Amino acid sequence: MKDLIDIRELSTSEINQLIEVAKEIIDNPLDFAERCKHKKLATLFYEPSTRTRLSFEAAMYDLGGQVIGFSEAGSSSAAKGESVADTAKTVECFADIIAMRHPKEGAPLVASQAVNIPVINAGDGGHHHPTQTLTDLLTIAREKGRLDNLTIGCCGDLKFGRTVHSLIAAMSRYANLKFVLISPDELRVPEHVRTEILEKDKIPYEEVHSLEEAIPKLDILYMTRVQKERFFNEADYIRLKDSYILSPEKLRQAKDDLSIMHPLPRVNEISTAIDSDPRAAYFRQVKNGKFIRMALILKLLEV
Ligand code: CP
Repeated sequence: MKDLIDIRELSTSEINQLIEVAKEIIDNPLDFAERCKHKKLATLFYEPSTRTRLSFEAAMYDLGGQVIGFSEAGSSSAAKGESVADTAKTVECFADIIAMRHPKEGAPLVASQAVNIPVINAGDGGHHHPTQTLTDLLTIAREKGRLDNLTIGCCGDLKFGRTVHSLIAAMSRYANLKFVLISPDELRVPEHVRTEILEKDKIPYEEVHSLEEAIPKLDILYMTRVQKERFFNEADYIRLKDSYILSPEKLRQAKDDLSIMHPLPRVNEISTAIDSDPRAAYFRQVKNGKFIRMALILKLLEV
């Protein structure tokens, strides 16, 4: 495997192996501190990011490597009209591996086809965000001690939320899962996710409107932001943006060992009063993102 563009390119055993390597890194970080000495990661971010870009950069530094790149298209020659393929070919002259975020779906795939070094998709439009999914899987594995026998609630914008689609695709490999999909009608999980993953793999799921009614049965609650940048119509965004706000009152009916996850950034869908609740896993999830990206860089560089 040269690149990671879509989480479905990874077999279940490859995912499990990445999770095990990430756990080894967590337990013995110094063992990995020089594994990528003299290697360079290029972070090519054409779209804003805090966690993904910085966790990739921290991951490479913690492996002893170096980082080059740009954090907005306007500071690269993309602003002069350079193609993604030409940018990738240029970066290949300087770096050993690329992590790319781009608003256009398919851009990291185009880059991967233009170069011989590995390209990691760090998010392409509403399409894929495989390293977020790996982060989510490591978080579930660490929080719950398992990836099977779970009832997972996904709440909020399930239509445009690429992380939810990829999470469902990745989790569908594990046994005895149930999904509770909590959204307004306008932001339901797309039909292709329901028919081509959930129904095809015979994974039980229900679609509901009420977070309060769903919450008592959940082992994991995966909250999502209503994404302003994916809406064509501002009036629709304003009408739907506050559909689900997780508050301490709503959590009263939840299990004591619920794990609350969120890919972040949040706007207001999780009250900050919940941040100190031990069930709030979303900042631990951020930290896991660095460790799983370290494991992925090692795999793709065959270190
Ligand atoms: N979860 C995530 O992709 O966050 P950023 O947009 O900050 O990278």
